[in-house]
Amino acid sequence: MVEKEGKIWAIGGGKGGTGKSFVTSAMGTYIAGKGKRVILIDIDIGGANLHSFFGISRPKKSLTDFFEAGASLNKLAVKTGIDNMSLITGDIHSLASDNIKFTQKLKLFRHIMKLNKHYVIIDLGAGSHNNTIDTFLMADKKIVILEPEITSVENMYHFIKNALFRKLRMSLREYGFKDIVEQMWERREEYNIKSLRELMDCIRDNFSYVGDIIDKELSDFKLYLILNKIRSSDDILIGSSMKSILMKYLGVDTKFVGFVEYDDSVWRSMRERRPFMLNYSLSRSAKEVEVFTENLLKGKEIKLSRN
Ligand SMILES: Nc1ncnc2c1ncn2[C@@H]1O[C@H](COP(=O)(O)OP(=O)(O)OP(=O)(O)O)[C@@H](O)[C@H]1O
Ligand SMILES: [Mg+2]
Repeated sequence: MVEKEGKIWAIGGGKGGTGKSFVTSAMGTYIAGKGKRVILIDIDIGGANLHSFFGISRPKKSLTDFFEAGASLNKLAVKTGIDNMSLITGDIHSLASDNIKFTQKLKLFRHIMKLNKHYVIIDLGAGSHNNTIDTFLMADKKIVILEPEITSVENMYHFIKNALFRKLRMSLREYGFKDIVEQMWERREEYNIKSLRELMDCIRDNFSYVGDIIDKELSDFKLYLILNKIRSSDDILIGSSMKSILMKYLGVDTKFVGFVEYDDSVWRSMRERRPFMLNYSLSRSAKEVEVFTENLLKGKEIKLSRN
């Protein structure tokens, strides 16, 4: 049976270099190892490099052939060297383009949904380009990768705020209420609105029927958070803080599913052109990947022991 609920996962988070591609490759390898059919899609606008985590060369065909020549996604998929798992790559030229219309993105998603796979994992890359955000919003599981440092926290907060704001605007526009958000945001000083959460609360107080739409959108906008490159157990607290910040300022419900420590084996396996989860399968960091992937599969949070 092909998974219907939660089949499409997107990995984003704003800042570059936090480990989105590493996590995508490691998680995909683990799930494929469980006998599930997995396809990875590399939509990194800054420079698709997911193939490097498998030691394979850059695929010749890319999503440009889908957008411009109508190629089927199955024709674009290449082998990763790992059973049950293939890869489709994007390229900067087409993905950074503002010319990709919303209907084309919907078409891509319709085709992604039709792929005969249990899981489709999309590596979004850094930044908050509309194409990146729209892909993030369309995924069933929205996963963000955080590094324990302030720039990563800030970039992630902005990425999530932009994504949520875009989702709300699109939905309210559909119901004919787009102006309410714009007008209230323009008059934010008068209403003493300092955050997106306060904007949403203010709209709820003044227009309860619009509040219902906002509540529905927020309940659809669930996030899964992974902390990467931790160097001490204290760093783990940053995951919990990020979760609290997202609830406090944006009203976003986030599940903190796990962490991976900083481990030189990650870049070493890339240099050795061997997938990390196969090359270093017994390492502590590989076990950490397994823990958060299982949590993602089950929709559970990590259990943090207090001492
Ligand atoms: N847990 C880790 N321990 C040590 N190094 C890591 C870890 N995770 C990722 N790295 C290294 O950090 C670098 C960036 O990782 P990666 O390419 O996965 O990030 P990214 O978020 O996909 O970056 P971009 O935004 O540029 O796409 C790589 O050199 C990778 O080997
Ligand atoms: Mg990447």
